[in-house]
Amino acid sequence: MSQGLGFLLALLSFLCSGTVGAQNTGPTWVPSSTQPEVLHIAPWEETSAATSWGGGGAVSKPFSNFTGTVDDRGICQCSVSLPDTTFPVDRVERLEYTAHVLSEKFKTELSKVKEYAQLITTYEKRLFNLTVRVEIMEKDSISYTELDFELIKIEVKEMTKLITRLKESFVGSKQIVVQLEMEIRNMTLLIEKLETLDKNNVLVIRREILALKERLKECEAQNEQASLVPPAPAPGTCNHGGVVNISRPSVVQLNWRGFSYKYGSWGRDYSPEHPNKTLYWVAPLETNGRTLSSYRLYNTLDNLLLYTHFQESSINAGQGSGATVYKNNMYVNWHYTGNIVRINLTPHSVAVTRQLPNAAYNNRFSYANVAWQDIDFAVDEQGLWVTYATEASTGNIVISLLNDTSLEVLNTWVTKMYRPSVSGTFMVCGVLYATRTLNTRMEEIFYYYDTNTGKEGNLAIPMPKMQEVVQSINYHPYDQKLYVYNDGYLVNYDLFFQKEPK
Ligand SMILES: *[C@@H]1O[C@H](CO)[C@@H](O)[C@H](O)[C@H]1NC(C)=O
Ligand SMILES: *[C@@H]1O[C@H](CO)[C@@H](O)[C@H](O)[C@H]1NC(C)=O
Ligand SMILES: *[C@@H]1O[C@H](CO)[C@@H](O)[C@H](O)[C@H]1NC(C)=O
Ligand SMILES: *[C@@H]1O[C@H](CO)[C@@H](O)[C@H](O)[C@H]1NC(C)=O
Ligand SMILES: *[C@@H]1O[C@H](CO)[C@@H](O)[C@H](O)[C@H]1NC(C)=O
Ligand SMILES: *[C@@H]1O[C@H](CO)[C@@H](O)[C@H](O)[C@H]1NC(C)=O
Repeated sequence: MSQGLGFLLALLSFLCSGTVGAQNTGPTWVPSSTQPEVLHIAPWEETSAATSWGGGGAVSKPFSNFTGTVDDRGICQCSVSLPDTTFPVDRVERLEYTAHVLSEKFKTELSKVKEYAQLITTYEKRLFNLTVRVEIMEKDSISYTELDFELIKIEVKEMTKLITRLKESFVGSKQIVVQLEMEIRNMTLLIEKLETLDKNNVLVIRREILALKERLKECEAQNEQASLVPPAPAPGTCNHGGVVNISRPSVVQLNWRGFSYKYGSWGRDYSPEHPNKTLYWVAPLETNGRTLSSYRLYNTLDNLLLYTHFQESSINAGQGSGATVYKNNMYVNWHYTGNIVRINLTPHSVAVTRQLPNAAYNNRFSYANVAWQDIDFAVDEQGLWVTYATEASTGNIVISLLNDTSLEVLNTWVTKMYRPSVSGTFMVCGVLYATRTLNTRMEEIFYYYDTNTGKEGNLAIPMPKMQEVVQSINYHPYDQKLYVYNDGYLVNYDLFFQKEPK
């Protein structure tokens, strides 16, 4: 680069001084054909560039003889005789023009060089930066990730692209560019090598470690929970002080009739003689949210989950989502009436129909958000219950314990809770728990009535939900879970109890 440019500079300075000299300095050049003397211009002939602007052989020809005299005032006078008789003004002009063009060209080349020099400096910095980073990666095999690799790879690729462009357009010495290019290629190779190394070992190990850590965390969280939550009382017993908390919901599945069947109920049959029996029932209402006309039974949870090996039966017809199953019998409110019905499940047959005394029905005092559920059955450790409201109770919740065979009312309690103000209820160990809606994502177990003592009061147990409306809640004494029908989804909750009995 410096060689070529230096030469160019020398040429330009020569051209400039030459033309200026011809115009106005000391010895005046008088064209003459007499007494020519040779004026030999050494660099002229060596300059290959001269041919490009000289316009042919005339220029490279030596000037003619000249003679010099000193006049009486002591001024030196020279006369130069040129081979041509006339002064080649046009050639001088061309020379001047060419010099100007060259000078402009030179300026742009110079600025380009400056630009390239800057570029190269930044490249060098970036390369150094990358080198440092790769070195760190090489040293500490655990501290880098796939992302680090990707970032460096992208940067190196970008630099490779830039260096290629630089190489193509750079006119000067290519040594620095070539060096840079080599270094970048070196870097690429190194990264590739590191990466294969890493892919085989480090990343895999890192992933495994992460997975293990995750599992450890889960395990710890479970331990924590286990140590915080008192051990569950024996299934089916009431050796505890009542519900104190509830788990997050776990979705079991969508009801068998599909997403549009938003109303209904489901649960697991409870028989005190066979508490671990796994008979599950699902009873979606028609899309009118009122009529119960069929249900399905599954002998195992797996069958329920797979929607297989079910027994499907028709009912003519139940009303509302208040059904429950106890000792292989389903209990429902009969359509358009205040009657309650016991349906034998196997074989399917309506066993008993009886009027529930004074019970309001046909959407008189149904739950908040859920229509047609004036009569709601419940099962707990103590037996079969029904909750409803009467005109005499002014719409407040009435709790009755039923003879599960005959459907006779064995005992009745009247609460101070207005039934249409609660979103659902369930019974545990003779205690009624009521929920209300806090918002679209949260219910709250906010009220209890203890039939054992006649006490009632407030609670504040948040109950997260998957979907907006909780249509029904059924408790199972053996697994101590709530079975909730939530806008067509079948979900479970675990209940947590206070350790000390009240
Ligand atoms: C220069 O002039 C001298 C005398 O006038 C002559 O002898 C000589 O040949 C000339 N040289 C050339 C190259 O014309
Ligand atoms: C050089 O690397 C450091 C991190 O090591 C980073 O913070 C910095 O921005 C980098 N500089 C350039 C010009 O990429
Ligand atoms: C390329 O890398 C090798 C080994 O890592 C090194 O010996 C060599 O000098 C590097 N070349 C350049 C141009 O950086
Ligand atoms: C209740 O259970 C939830 C979910 O398991 C938990 O996040 C919360 O801390 C519990 N609350 C109390 C008071 O134990
Ligand atoms: C239920 O428990 C009894 C013993 O109480 C046991 O023999 C039986 O295998 C259990 N059945 C299931 C399905 O777990
Ligand atoms: C329930 O009703 C059946 C049939 O009427 C009767 O045999 C049984 O003794 C009753 N049980 C109770 C606890 O009243």
